[in-house]
Order: sequence, then structure tokens, then C-alpha cells
Amino acid sequence: MVQPANKPNICSNEEQLCPRQCQSEGERVCSALSRRGALTFGAALLAASPSLAANDVGVSPPCVFVAGATGRTGQEVVSEALRLGFQVKAGVRSAEKARRAGLLDDPAVDVCVLDLMEASVGDIIPLLEGAQAVICAAGFTPTYLSGVDADLSHQIDNVGTLKLLSAAEASLTVERFILISSLLTNSPGSASYKLLNSLGNVLDEKHVAEVAVERSPLKSVILRPGIFAAKKQGDVMTFGADTFRAGESDIRPGPPVRCVSPFMASENSSICAVTRAQIARLSLDAVSLPVASSLLLEVVARPDAKEILKRKAF
Ligand SMILES: NC(=O)c1ccc[n+]([C@@H]2O[C@H](COP(=O)([O-])OP(=O)(O)OC[C@H]3O[C@@H](n4cnc5c(N)ncnc54)[C@H](OP(=O)(O)O)[C@@H]3O)[C@@H](O)[C@H]2O)c1
Repeated sequence: MVQPANKPNICSNEEQLCPRQCQSEGERVCSALSRRGALTFGAALLAASPSLAANDVGVSPPCVFVAGATGRTGQEVVSEALRLGFQVKAGVRSAEKARRAGLLDDPAVDVCVLDLMEASVGDIIPLLEGAQAVICAAGFTPTYLSGVDADLSHQIDNVGTLKLLSAAEASLTVERFILISSLLTNSPGSASYKLLNSLGNVLDEKHVAEVAVERSPLKSVILRPGIFAAKKQGDVMTFGADTFRAGESDIRPGPPVRCVSPFMASENSSICAVTRAQIARLSLDAVSLPVASSLLLEVVARPDAKEILKRKAF
């Protein structure tokens, strides 16, 4: 049974969807798969047909915990994860919202009630049990009341995310933390930064979480998209940290394009925003991306992305 939203506790699915198989309690690598197995699964899956089921490659599918699973991005992450053959633990703050999103009907999804404002690190650890990766798609929902938004943003995008990270570090199975953050978190000064950050200081709060994730002993991938576009505007291009600062010195991967830009005033910008579906797919690719310790990617799109990448023209 799903617990009431204000009581983070066990997850809903009575079958052990993401079983934890330990050699011994003291062992850190403690999952349905060996560490290597879990992290190569995604790569194998991507190289093969996207619809390839886990059983076809003879290993248990890895399990991802998605925080903010009833959000617009979170729902995309869950459905793409299922399509790719992952097992999913869906972290939701409202069981009722999870029911409306159809998450309770899906036998491949274990719904875990988690309010990042209410839960302690100790509450969160058992929810992550069996997951090899945590994808954080949670973020505060703006009220447009500045004091309220500043508090919510601090509690969720900063403190709540840090609690999730600490729980992931303490869990026996989680190997990797993937954070959906935002462009401009480390670029104070520009007009776009000021405008976006005026919403509850959200960029500053997210930056605190980014720094903690980068310092974590877990492997991590931080994704920085711009303001999500409703429609796909081209294929995804990724760049390193602080490539795009909404300033004159930003690199231009190609000629100006007319599209919805991650930044505010830029009809003739050279980069376009990605959609939530695109960031969802990238967050799942990040589960198996070779990463030494931490990777931060700024994520944009362009209609001619493939051509540019082929020519390496920037
Ligand atoms: N929107 C953009 O254009 C944009 C651009 C760049 C980056 N981002 C970032 O991308 C992420 C996803 O954005 P989105 O647009 O998909 O957001 P969204 O639809 O508002 O989803 C946010 C999710 O966070 C959950 N959440 C809020 N408060 C919570 C709490 N106290 N405990 C646990 N979960 C909580 C929400 O739960 P409920 O479903 O119960 O409301 C929801 O599932 C966010 O971190 C956002 O800051 C967004």
C-alpha cells in the first residue's frame, strides 16, 4: 500500500522489483547486478534496439530511482526508462498524483512516497534500496510569491536535493547520481541569469546542489538544459560546464537559427532549447555513460546538430 504523502516510508510494490542481493551487509557493491553489469547494461541496450527487453540480453535490468516522477520531466523519464527496459522506483510526493499519472497501474514501477521537504536522509535511504542510479528530476513549483518561492527553492532544489544525495551515498546499491539542473547556475551577471534567478533564487540554489553532487564519492552526471521547449527543435548537442553564459563571448556552434532559445532575448540565437523528452532520454543515457567521477553537460539543440557534429565545426 502506498503511504500517505507526508509519511515517507516503504514503496508500493509488494514484489521485490529492485532486489538487493548482497554478499554481506558490509559490502558496498550490493545490487541485483554486479557494478560492471549494471553500468554496461545501458550501453548494451543503447547499442541494440531501443525496445530490447532486459531478458533478451540475459541480465536483470538495472533499476533507477526517479525523484519528482510525477513532474513533467519526471514522467518522461519514467516512460522512457520503461521503454528502454529499466526497472523504475518512482519517487512521488503525492500518491494520488501518482495514481492519476498511471504509475500505480504499472507492474514495472514501484511507487515510493517521498516529499523532499519532509523526509530525513534516514527516511530516504530505504526508498533507494535496490536502485543503481538516482535521477533527480524534482524541483520547486513556483507560486510567484517571492518569499515563498525563495523558501521552496531553498528547501527543494538545494536542501532536499542534498538529502537525496546523502541518502544515495549511504545506500548500499546506488552507484550513480544524475541531476537535472539548469543552464546559467554558475553565470551570475547576465540579464537572463537575473531574470531566471529572480524566481526564488533558483539558479543559486541549484548551484549549491551541483557543487555537492560534483564532490560526491558517487559517480555523477549533471545535466544543464535551458528553459524546456514544447516541441523538438533539433537534435541534442552537449557542451562542457559554463559554455553558455548568455553573453557575447558564448560560442556559436553554427549560424543563427530561429528557435526557442534557452535564454530570454535571442530570436537569432545560435542554440535552441531541448524538450523534456530529450533531457529524459539523456538522463537515462547518463546511467551508463563512461564517467571517471563527475561529468557536467550543458544541453542544447540545433536543427543541424548532426551536420555540425559530423564536421566538428565549432
Ligand atoms: N521548466 C524548465 O523550463 C526548466 C529548465 C531548466 C531546468 N529545469 C529543471 O528541470 C527539473 C524538472 O523540471 P519540470 O519543468 O519537469 O518541473 P515540474 O513539472 O514542476 O516537476 C517538478 C517535480 O518536482 C516535484 N517536487 C516539488 N516539490 C517536491 C518536494 N517537496 N518533494 C519531492 N518532489 C517535489 C514535483 O512534485 P509534484 O508532481 O507532486 O508537483 C514534480 O514532480 C527541475 O529541477 C527544474 O528546475 C526546468
